[in-house]
Amino acid sequence: MYTEILGTGSALPKQRITNDELAVLVDTSDEWITSRTGISERWISAGESTSDLAAEAAANALADAGVEPADIDLVISATVSPDNFTPTVSCEVQKALGLSQATCFDLWAGCTGFIFSLMTADSLLKSGFFSRALVIGAEVLSKLVDWEDRATCVLFGDGAGAAVLGRSSEPGLLSHVSGSDGSRGEVLTIGGVPLMNPWSPERAGTAGQGSLNHDQSVICMNGQEVFKFAVRAMESSIRRATELSDLSLHDISYIIPHQANNRIIQSVAGRMEMPREKFFTNLDHRGNTSSASIPMALDEMNRAGLLLPGMHLALVGFGGGLTWGASIVRWTRQS
Ligand SMILES: CC(C)(COP(=O)(O)OP(=O)(O)OC[C@H]1O[C@@H](n2cnc3c(N)ncnc32)[C@H](O)[C@@H]1OP(=O)(O)O)[C@@H](O)C(=O)NCCC(=O)NCCS
Repeated sequence: MYTEILGTGSALPKQRITNDELAVLVDTSDEWITSRTGISERWISAGESTSDLAAEAAANALADAGVEPADIDLVISATVSPDNFTPTVSCEVQKALGLSQATCFDLWAGCTGFIFSLMTADSLLKSGFFSRALVIGAEVLSKLVDWEDRATCVLFGDGAGAAVLGRSSEPGLLSHVSGSDGSRGEVLTIGGVPLMNPWSPERAGTAGQGSLNHDQSVICMNGQEVFKFAVRAMESSIRRATELSDLSLHDISYIIPHQANNRIIQSVAGRMEMPREKFFTNLDHRGNTSSASIPMALDEMNRAGLLLPGMHLALVGFGGGLTWGASIVRWTRQS
């Protein structure tokens, strides 16, 4: 049994924030941000929730696929910035769109979340448990950013992307690779809520709340360590996933990388001796939207008519955990 991508969608909050606007908040400049990251602007929630953006992206993906809400039986939302611990983003999307037949759950794997969700949905479809899936990446990272930390606040944006997956008679999703290294998790963290029960030491103490202090409930990062990890993880993931699909790098029309930093992507292209033009980027006008970045880029390409039937795409991500992964997709849709 095969699976394919039937349609894509995305959504942004209404508010656009430029580098010059950030330079009013922290000691930075448009020149520093663009030269170090490639980012010019990002979209920041003015009230939209993660579930709002996820539902809008999902509705757009359903319309693009021509699939009715009642035909979706699985929803997986990747996020590191859910609105609640429960109900999940996926269940909120179910409520908003009337996906009454669906089993819904969220998946938490840092910026690799969409790749892990795609792999999970693909496996569940191929196993025969489900027949049509909505896979979503949605984030409102702006609530987790320390807006006084110039080293991180310039990098991130909010948004959502989605894809509809279905069973097919010809191969669409060809292979996946994935990996994690929890021993290096400290280089990119977002702390959780502290233990605060009547019996906890000092009430707001640190015991029992995981390895981070609750004053670290913002994105903290060792930028240079993440940079080095990202370059290696992306290169090895693309190479391995391509091999598993019995393809060579020449067969890949586009690489759709996690949109974190232009210099990371440039470096991967150089190491792999691949033309930079094969790496699709939209981070200049989106910033790093974590789990949402790959499906938002895929949707932008789809709507721009860049994807042709038979093209091979390599979707590749890396992020907190640490986690990494790649999926090879054979595009089957007529545009
Ligand atoms: C974050 C990142 C852009 C920083 O770039 P860098 O070249 O490594 O810069 P450094 O951290 O070495 O900082 C260099 C200087 O710029 C300063 N700086 C940091 N952020 C700045 C900003 N927004 N504006 C101006 N100066 C800044 C630093 O304070 C430092 O100053 P110093 O030399 O006086 O100490 C880069 O490391 C990166 O992109 N890493 C990967 C991050 C990532 O992708 N994370 C998400 C993973 S999912």
